[in-house]
Amino acid sequence: MKLIGRCACLAAVLLIAALVIPAASFGAIDEIKMDGQAESKKKAGVGVVTFPHARHKKSFKCAECHPKIFKDTLGANRINMKENMDGKFCGSLNCHTGRKAFALFMCEKCHVIVKGAVKK
Ligand code: HEC
Ligand code: HEC
Repeated sequence: MKLIGRCACLAAVLLIAALVIPAASFGAIDEIKMDGQAESKKKAGVGVVTFPHARHKKSFKCAECHPKIFKDTLGANRINMKENMDGKFCGSLNCHTGRKAFALFMCEKCHVIVKGAVKK
């Protein structure tokens, strides 16, 4: 009886840990691969984007990006170059405008270059 009680207690602790630990480590993916909009990217000669989330989290507060600029759910933002260049998403003020961070024309800094068609 006593033993069963102890087992149940241990199971409960493990269950709580299993639920709490992932919640506490939200935003845990260091490098987020963005590989949508294949057709459009193929035409432009660019491929997958690697977004270094960890590096950005070191330099900025969560609230500087979430939820104002990016929804904090994988794939929830339909990021595209028109809006980037219009000052949204990656091209937001103080971001990739070429002043504080490399500019949007440096395709290869974010994308894999597929065709080598895009020049600096
Ligand atoms: C420079 C902007 C920026 C900052 C700062 C930032 N994030 Fe994010 N975050 C993003 C982007 C971009 C994505 C990818 C969203 C997508 O896939 O559309 C993302 C994705 C996420 C996700 C979903 C992916 C995952 O790893 O589970 C979570 C959760 C998240 N962020 C939480 C956070 C938290 C917590 C912080 C602060 C410690 C933070 N973010 C700081 C831009 C940022
Ligand atoms: C600061 C990072 C960054 C730079 C620099 C950048 N992109 Fe992007 N681009 C993105 C992100 C993020 C997406 C969304 C990726 C996805 O959905 O897979 C994207 C999506 C795209 C798309 C698909 C959506 C659309 O707009 O049609 C194309 C095409 C594209 N980029 C071309 C380019 C070209 C060409 C350059 C250089 C002139 C460039 N990008 C520079 C981050 C960047």
